[in-house]
Amino acid sequence: MSEKEKKLINIKIALIGDAGVGKTSIAMRYANNEFKDDYASTGGAAYSTKTIQTETQTIHLDIWDTAGQEKFRSVARSFYKDAVIVVLVYDITNKLSFTNLKDVWLPEIKNNGEENIILGVVGNKNDQYENEDTVNEVEAKTYSDSINGIFKLVSAKTGDNINNLFNELLKEYFKRNNPEKVNDFLARRQSVKIKPKKEKHKKKCC
Ligand code: GTP
Repeated sequence: MSEKEKKLINIKIALIGDAGVGKTSIAMRYANNEFKDDYASTGGAAYSTKTIQTETQTIHLDIWDTAGQEKFRSVARSFYKDAVIVVLVYDITNKLSFTNLKDVWLPEIKNNGEENIILGVVGNKNDQYENEDTVNEVEAKTYSDSINGIFKLVSAKTGDNINNLFNELLKEYFKRNNPEKVNDFLARRQSVKIKPKKEKHKKKCC
């Protein structure tokens, strides 16, 4: 099947969580396989795109990385409100960022997001797992299970588990929305990125 004959599927994914947990870094690692120490703090939202080709479909992902800072909350809201996959991100070395998933970010999604969204619960900076004061993994997994989320510990820095995270989220998306295409998705050819990073490594808006 030629690229033109394939069905185009657009999927919007939003990453939310406290400032500094690594949302931009996760998006950049997945979309461009890169990591930088110095992404500017996101104001409002920024996005990356990635395209995955399967035998019969072109899957276009818009990955929105929304600002964690309180002052940008209302702007960020307008970007995640129609996302079909929402990833709640915490930093394993920052317990408050985990508590805030329950107290701040999940309520934000319940109040403003789509009804049947697919949720991920993601502990980033897992390269720091030897740090003594990290969020308890069992507690985080239990929380994720309680909200029917897909739980992963990842590191945007090393790339550990990042592809696996997005694969699991997309697999779940196809199971729910397009079950006959799950195997097609799983057997896909290598993914292709279509939009190289912009200046300063991300496109900002607002
Ligand atoms: P806001 O845009 O302010 O909401 O922040 P953010 O959640 O997008 O965080 P960002 O990706 O800008 O990362 C914040 C800091 O954490 C940066 O200094 C990153 O280099 C660092 N960081 C991100 N991911 C990792 C990781 O996996 N491991 C380690 N050790 N540091 C990370």
